[in-house]
Amino acid sequence: MYPQLYDGVLVHTDPEAAHHAAMVAIALAGNTEPTRRALKASFGRLGTPVRNPRLLVFPRQIPGVLGLCAGMDKNAEAVLGMDALGFGFVEVGTVTALPQPGNPKPRVWRHPELRALRNQMGFNNEGAAVVGQRLRDLRRHPAGRAVVVGVNIGKSKVTPLADAAADYRASTREVARWADYLVVNVSSPNTPGLRELQRVEALRPILEAVRDEAGRVAGRDLPVFVKIAPDLDEEGIVEIAALVREEGLAGVCAVNTTIAHDLGPGGLSGGPLRERALEVVALVRRELGPKPVIIASGGIFMAEDGQALLDSGADLLQAYTAFVYEGPAWPGRVNRELSRRT
Ligand SMILES: Cc1cc2nc3c(=O)[nH]c(=O)nc-3n(C[C@H](O)[C@H](O)[C@H](O)COP(=O)(O)O)c2cc1C
Repeated sequence: MYPQLYDGVLVHTDPEAAHHAAMVAIALAGNTEPTRRALKASFGRLGTPVRNPRLLVFPRQIPGVLGLCAGMDKNAEAVLGMDALGFGFVEVGTVTALPQPGNPKPRVWRHPELRALRNQMGFNNEGAAVVGQRLRDLRRHPAGRAVVVGVNIGKSKVTPLADAAADYRASTREVARWADYLVVNVSSPNTPGLRELQRVEALRPILEAVRDEAGRVAGRDLPVFVKIAPDLDEEGIVEIAALVREEGLAGVCAVNTTIAHDLGPGGLSGGPLRERALEVVALVRRELGPKPVIIASGGIFMAEDGQALLDSGADLLQAYTAFVYEGPAWPGRVNRELSRRT
């Protein structure tokens, strides 16, 4: 039903306005007890929780292998709603130390023929302090404490690259206590210079700052991941994987959106990412060895797409674009299908 509605009607609406309306509805439904329960009963019943010894790095059990990608719930407003719709975990953000408006609109475009989205959002968000408060409120209630929540952190646009580590540290201070894991995002194409931080010399001090600050604030080791671009070459991926091992980090999120296209400005997600995501995940697994966790995203539309990424070495999956095209019943359905396979 929803895909027909999408192709016939929603595809003619402004993508960011549609996104905003959907987020308000999901947040409202999730934050109201009776609708949250009703949603969970109709969409969010999952199979058996994920069993995978690598996932013991997380402080709690992950109920479903497919989670929500960063970028949709940037300000942590709809965590309960996303959980009720059947995502196994929810990654909020990207948050930055300073609140910022992002790039001028329009900044999201649909490419339905490719089952893709293209975006140039530029980390529009309310800032780490506001998001930290919101997560603290979420964790006050049993339903909010039960959700596995990751926080994805980026660099504030006005912060020079040379001061990036302090900027990531400042965000970590605000959110770490309420997070189950953190993701250091150095792979968005929409903040000038950000992806230069994928170079090992620049990345090492950022990862160390986030890991140390997270441990201090949370009073425990918090899993820290680094999110990489699909456009890195093999050498770049090999170096980051070596750094993750050396620093004893939890693992890698692969992949972010790609700039390898000629459709206009911004990063492309969805269908066109599928093959490259498989290659990158396989390469990252080869280089990381058996212990660290890989959270894979990029063009997952069907359980088979997710299974292929798991077979290539991923432990968890995330999606954004397919949720937009397939609708509210989609995450629970894919999670149930994947759980039947394991
Ligand atoms: C509109 C939009 C906004 C995004 N914003 C973020 C973001 O803020 N931080 C981030 O790490 N990734 C962001 N992403 C990338 C996704 O998290 C994901 O890595 C990518 O879209 C691949 O997954 P998919 O093919 O399922 O969409 C965004 C993607 C889209 C489509």
